[in-house]
Order: sequence, then C-alpha cells, then structure tokens
Amino acid sequence: MTDSAKYRSYSQFEEFLLNFYNLRQNVRIHSDNHKLVIRGIEKFFESINNCMENESLTLKISNDQLFIDDEKLPYNRTTKNLFDNIIRYFDTRGLEGVRFLEAVKHVSAEEILAFLRLLEHFWQKPEPLTWLTNCLAAQNINWVEMIKKSEIPQADQESSYKDKAERWERARKDYTYAKASLEEVAQKIKDKKSVVGIGKTVRVVQDMVTNLIEDDEVYAAISTLRVFDDYTFTHSVNVAMLSMCLGRRINLSRRTLASLGICALFHDLGKIEIPNEVLHKKDKLDDSELKLIEEHSLNSARLLLKLKASLDSKARILVPLFEHHLKYDLSGYPRVDWKKPLTLFGKIISIADKYDTLTSSRAYRKSLLSPDRALGYMLDHAGKDFDPILIKVFINILGVYPVGTLLRLDTDELALVVSSPSRNFSKRPLVCVLEKEGEGSYKKREIINLDERDTETGNYVREIIETYHPATFGIQPVQHMFSSN
Ligand SMILES: [Fe+2]
Ligand SMILES: [Fe+2]
Repeated sequence: MTDSAKYRSYSQFEEFLLNFYNLRQNVRIHSDNHKLVIRGIEKFFESINNCMENESLTLKISNDQLFIDDEKLPYNRTTKNLFDNIIRYFDTRGLEGVRFLEAVKHVSAEEILAFLRLLEHFWQKPEPLTWLTNCLAAQNINWVEMIKKSEIPQADQESSYKDKAERWERARKDYTYAKASLEEVAQKIKDKKSVVGIGKTVRVVQDMVTNLIEDDEVYAAISTLRVFDDYTFTHSVNVAMLSMCLGRRINLSRRTLASLGICALFHDLGKIEIPNEVLHKKDKLDDSELKLIEEHSLNSARLLLKLKASLDSKARILVPLFEHHLKYDLSGYPRVDWKKPLTLFGKIISIADKYDTLTSSRAYRKSLLSPDRALGYMLDHAGKDFDPILIKVFINILGVYPVGTLLRLDTDELALVVSSPSRNFSKRPLVCVLEKEGEGSYKKREIINLDERDTETGNYVREIIETYHPATFGIQPVQHMFSSN
C-alpha cells in the first residue's frame, strides 16, 4: 500500500468509526424515525461500503489501541476523543471488537437499528454474551460477529462491569461471614465464656485476602452495604475491608494482610462494654460518658488478650488496637506522652475508620458528607491527622468519586457512582442514572460513562454539578449497584 493510499484508508476508517459511534449515540437518544437516526444509517452504509475491501471488516481493540483489519489506527488530536470513546464503549461491554461480514451491505435499516439496540443493553444482562448471541440468532442477524475479550486478562485490563457483578456477590458473602464471625466472638465475650476462639474469624479473613488480591476495587466499594441497626459490626467489617485494600496497594504480604484484617475487624471490640444509650446518644456526651467512649481502644486491646490465639499473632495486632484513635501527630485519644510514630497498622486503620465514620448515615448525624467530600476533608488533614502518603494511596483506591456517591448532573439527572476508576484521577466514573418512581423511591435507568466526550467539541457529554450522600435522598446504593431492574 502506498503512503497516499494508506492515508486515504485511515481517513475512511476514521469516517466509518465516527459514523458508527454517532449512530449508536443517536439511536440511544432518538426514536427510529428521527432524521438524525435515518441520516446516521445512510452514513453508516456509505462508510462501511468505502472501507470494506474483502468479505469482512474487523474493528478490534488491543492494548488501548484501535485496529481495523489488523491495521493500527494512529492517534491524533482530532481522533483522540473518538477513539477513547470507542475503546471505552467496547471495554465496558466486555468486548474486544466486532466483525461486520459482507452481507451487512445489503441489510435493512431496521436490522441495523435492532443490532445497535441489542449492543446498547446486552452487557447488563446475566450471561451477557450468550444472551446477545441468542438474540442475534433469533432475529436472523447473521452479518455481524462479536469478538469476546481474551480469556486471559491482561494485567492492566479493567474488569468489565459484568465481571464486577460476580465478584461483588463473592465480596458480599465474605462481608456476611466476617460480620457473623465477629458477632459470634463479641457474643461469647459478653456471655463471659471462658474460652473465646478466633479460628473461624481467621479463616474468613484469609479467604477474604485471597479474593481481595484478585480484585480489591469491589472490596473498597462494598462499604456502601452498611446498615444502621448494627452499626458497630458493619462498621468494623467496612474498616477491615478498607484497611486490607490499603494494605494490598502498598504490597503487604498475604500473611500481613490477614493480620491487618483481623486487627481491623477487632478494632472496636472494646465498644461492646459501652451501654447502647451512651454509644448511640444523640445529644452531647457528658465527661463520664466521654471517658467511657475514649477507653474503648484500650479495652479493645485488653479484650484481645483474653482471646484464644497464639501470642505471636496477638502481639502483631495489640498495639494498633490501642492506637486507632491516635492521630498521625499523636494527638487524639488515649492521650500519650511518647514521640514514637504510630505503627503501620495503626495508621492504616485510623484512615479506614475515619472514612467509614464520616460517610456513615447514623441517625444522629445532622449533615451527611458525600464520600468525595469525606475524602477531601481527610486530604486537608493529611500530615496532621493522617499519614500523608497513605491517605493519597487511599484516595487512589476509592477514586475521586467513590462508589456510592450520588451525583446531580447538568442534565438534571440524579446518578449513582457504580464504578470508580482508581489509579487514574483524570478518568471519570461509571454511573447509573436514577429515576424517581414515587415518594423516596428511585428506579435504576441506564448505566453511562461520565468520561464520554463530545467527539466534535471535546467537552464532556455530562458534567457533575453537585455531590450528595445517598442517604440525603433516602437511597440505599446497594439496591441499584448490580441489580438488573
Ligand atoms: Fe474506635
Ligand atoms: Fe471504629
């Protein structure tokens, strides 16, 4: 191929991609007989006719690059947004690409529309690719083939939303088991049992470490599962999961992660000795009540000593229990007069503990902080209250808009963050648009990617106007997270 012929091909390919992308966008917004849709189908046919030299045309993504018929398309300033959008579009759907067969040149506009509508929604179904393949067969759409993402995931390849749903279920089970084992230990202590073993808790946490090593983002997101009525236990599980995520990102060993998880799970054990009326008091605490609360970290350490576990494992987690309300500058409680820095576990747990406390929707809290504002508050206190490096790693895990943050968009839509890009502050989250159904009730609409940009202007298609804690609108994030309604 001569250079000029190659150049012409690239522009034809770009034209095809632009027409394909604009058409799917118009199909999503407009009805089938809208003039933009009709014109879009004409342009799609024109450009695919121009591009298809052999019996097929294959659009494929590999290592964040676009290929047409194995020809890598060069990025430039004008195509960057379009290519990024297409890569994200396929990535979100767990697809590596799509192959159009020659018969596409002779199909009706209705068939193209039917295909695009299936492509829009299939990835939110259980077994999405099987569902799509069956639908295509049922509608005699045999002029297109879907290319599944490679079975062996690349190290930096983000999981598809569907994969996340399966991992979310596994994390939910881990969450339930961890909470149940913690409740069992607490109950045995309350019942003054002479021997309180923690074997079950250790096994649960070890399983959690195995799953978390595979995908820590789901575990970071799962703290949205919190329930008010048994706050102490759900809080402890949240803190354990968040702490282990943080430990994982700083490359702690599997064994150390398990110790950290157990330590975080037991960090508020001392609270079982505080009467409920003090623990959940809505008014200001008096001095004696405050003293009771402030003694809980010391009591957590004291109760740990009574548990049946090896001295070695107890020694690893004793000091952090005592430290978890001490700040990075050693202020906080219990008051200490030494200058020794906090242990690594103590620093990690105090970050996870504060984040969960700030974002919990406990009834006595007057104003609810949205998760992104809680992170902003913590960043403002880095170096004084929190280790400045660990806090950055923590924000990196949760993303600028953590999962469960409620957003108001410039389209006046309310949207819930369901997946937040971590490791990359410049990327925007995946959100699920919520539609009001009745008083205090919302139903899930489509999932959209806020990273999507207008291919002509380069501006984001939707802007974020305001962020809220979901409880402000009576919304339980977990109901909308991966449900198919
Ligand atoms: Fe505490
Ligand atoms: Fe706590």
